[in-house]
Amino acid sequence: MSIVDKIRILESVVKTPSYVVLGVTHGRLVYLSTVEGAADLWSLDLSTGSKTRLTSGGISGAARPSEKTRLVVYTRDVSKGRELHKLFTVDVSGGEEKILIEAPPMRIFGIAFDGERIAYTAATERELALYLADLKGVCEKVYSFESLAIATDVNEKYVVGYGALKKNPKSMEIFVYSLAENSIKIYSPREGSVNKAPRLYETKVLFETNAFGENKLVVYDIEEKTLEKPEFAYRDYEKYHPVEHASYDWTEDGRIWAVGKKNGRTKFFLDGKEIPLPEGFISSAAIHRDKLYATHSSLVKPPKVLEVDLTTGETRVIIDNKLPREIEEKLDEVKFIKYKSFDGLEIPAFVVKSKGAPVPGPTVVYVHGGPWSEVADSWRTMIASLVACGYHIVAPNFRGSTGYGEYFRLLDIGDPGGGDLQDIIYARKWAVENGLASKIAVMGYSYGGYMTFLATTKYPELWDCGVAGAGITDWEELYELSDALFKQFINILFAGRKDLWKERSPVSYVDNAKTPICVIHPQNDSRTPLRPVLKYLQRLLENRVSFEAHVIPDIGHAINRLEDMLKILLPAILFLEKHMRR
Ligand code: 4NP
Repeated sequence: MSIVDKIRILESVVKTPSYVVLGVTHGRLVYLSTVEGAADLWSLDLSTGSKTRLTSGGISGAARPSEKTRLVVYTRDVSKGRELHKLFTVDVSGGEEKILIEAPPMRIFGIAFDGERIAYTAATERELALYLADLKGVCEKVYSFESLAIATDVNEKYVVGYGALKKNPKSMEIFVYSLAENSIKIYSPREGSVNKAPRLYETKVLFETNAFGENKLVVYDIEEKTLEKPEFAYRDYEKYHPVEHASYDWTEDGRIWAVGKKNGRTKFFLDGKEIPLPEGFISSAAIHRDKLYATHSSLVKPPKVLEVDLTTGETRVIIDNKLPREIEEKLDEVKFIKYKSFDGLEIPAFVVKSKGAPVPGPTVVYVHGGPWSEVADSWRTMIASLVACGYHIVAPNFRGSTGYGEYFRLLDIGDPGGGDLQDIIYARKWAVENGLASKIAVMGYSYGGYMTFLATTKYPELWDCGVAGAGITDWEELYELSDALFKQFINILFAGRKDLWKERSPVSYVDNAKTPICVIHPQNDSRTPLRPVLKYLQRLLENRVSFEAHVIPDIGHAINRLEDMLKILLPAILFLEKHMRR
C-alpha cells in the first residue's frame, strides 16, 4: 500500500461518524453525531425517521432532554478550544440556537436538566461551584466546592452529584443539594467508599458504590434516610454479575435500567432482565415508553443506533454505520487478554490485529487517556485508524483504568507514572514475547501522551518511536497553569504528594531521550497546556534527538471536529510509516 492509499484510508476511518443517544422528547430522539464533520446535536422524528441537525459547528456537551419541554440544553466552547463554555438552547425540531445565560464563560463539566431547571458544575481559574439556572436565563451560583464535584441530576426538590467531597483522594461521596433549604448534605454509605453518578427519581437516588465490596447499584431515599439494594423483577442482572456499570437510570415509571460491564464488554438490563444485544459495548442508552434506544459498537464495528421494542424484543438498526470493504477487511480480530506486570498484577488489554499485515509486524502500544478511563471493546477512531493502516495494536488497561473494579482503579492514586508506566512496559514485553511485534511504538493522547513521554525518556531503548498527543511533560508547571478543576484533579491523582511531581515529570529525564518522537499538540489546550511541551522540545533540540512537532492551531484538548482528528492522526501515521517500516 502506498502512502497515498494510507492517507485515503485514514480519511475514510476518521470520517466514520460517532453517535451518542441522549433521550426522547416530543416524538424525537435527540442524539449527538459527527456525521456532518463536527459533534452536533441532531433529532430523529420517530414517526417518519427524518433527521434534523439542531446545531452547527460543533458543541461540547448536552443534558438529557426532558418531555416537559421542546428545548434541548447544551454547552458550546466559545474560546477556540480553551474549554470556556456557554449554555445554549435549541428547539428539538430545529430553529435558532440561543444563548441561555449572558455570563462570562466557564469550564462547564457536569450538567443536568429536568425540563425546568438546569444544574451545572463549572470551574473558573479559582473556583469550582454549583450553579442553578432556569429557561428564562436566570442563573445563580448556589454552592462553592473546595474539592472536585460533578452535578449529575436535578428535579424540583434536589440537585445531586458526587466528588471527592471529604478530600480523601481515594473516596467519593454523594452530594444532595436541597432547593428548599439552600443547603448541601454529603452522603456516603461507608466512610472511605467510592460513590458515583447519582440519578434521581422523586426522593430516591440511584448510584454505584463500592461500600460493600464490589461495585453495586444502590438506592438511597433522601427523606427516609434509608439505603437499599434495588429489587429487580428478573434475575439476569444478578447472574451476569457486572464488575462496573457503564450507565444506569430510572424509567418514567420508576424501574431501573443498567448497562453492566465486564472485561470491556456490556450487557443491557431492564428491571434485572437482559435485553439481548450484539457483543460489544453500549456506550449510551435511553428508554422511552416501550422502546430502548442505544448506541452499539465494538473496536472493529463503528457505532450504530439501535431501537429495541421492549415488548416483542425486536431489534432494528435505526441509524446504520458501514465501513468501506477495504477497511472492514483489515479490522478483523479483537482479543481480550490479561498479562502479568512487574509485581504479578494481572493487566487486562485488548489486542487488535491488522489483517493482512505481517506477524510479527509493526505494532503500537496504545495508551488511553484519563487516566480513569479504559479501552473497551468499543469504537475508537485512533485505534481503528492505526489498524486500518496496517499496525497491530496492544491497548493495555493499566492500573488506574476503569472497568475492573475500584481496587484496580485506585491503584494509580498517589503513584501516577509509577506502577502504571510499568504496565505499559510489560504490554510491550507481551507484544514482543508473543510474536506480535517486529517494530514497536508507544502512542497516546493526553494521559496517554504523558505516558509516551515518560516511557521514551525512562526506557528509550525499548521503543522504535513514540507519538505523544496533548501530553504532559512537567507536573509542576501544569499545576500552575491549571484552573480550579484541574488543580483538584492533580491533587487527587497525586494524593497531595507534591514531592512526586519532579520525579514523575518526563522533563526530569529528557536528557536520556533518544527515541524518535512525534509530538502533536493543540495550541489552545487548557487541560494539558502547550507551554511546558515547547520547553521540552527545546531540550530535545539541544540534545539532537530526532523529533517532529505539530502544533494544531485554534483547537483545544477536546476533539469535536473530524477535520481536527485528521490533523492529529495524519502526522502520526506519516511518522509511523517512516520509523516502523524500515
Ligand atoms: P485526559 O487529560 O487524559 O484527556 O483525561 C488529562 C488532563 C489533565 C490531567 C490528566 C489527564 N491532569 O492530571 O492534570
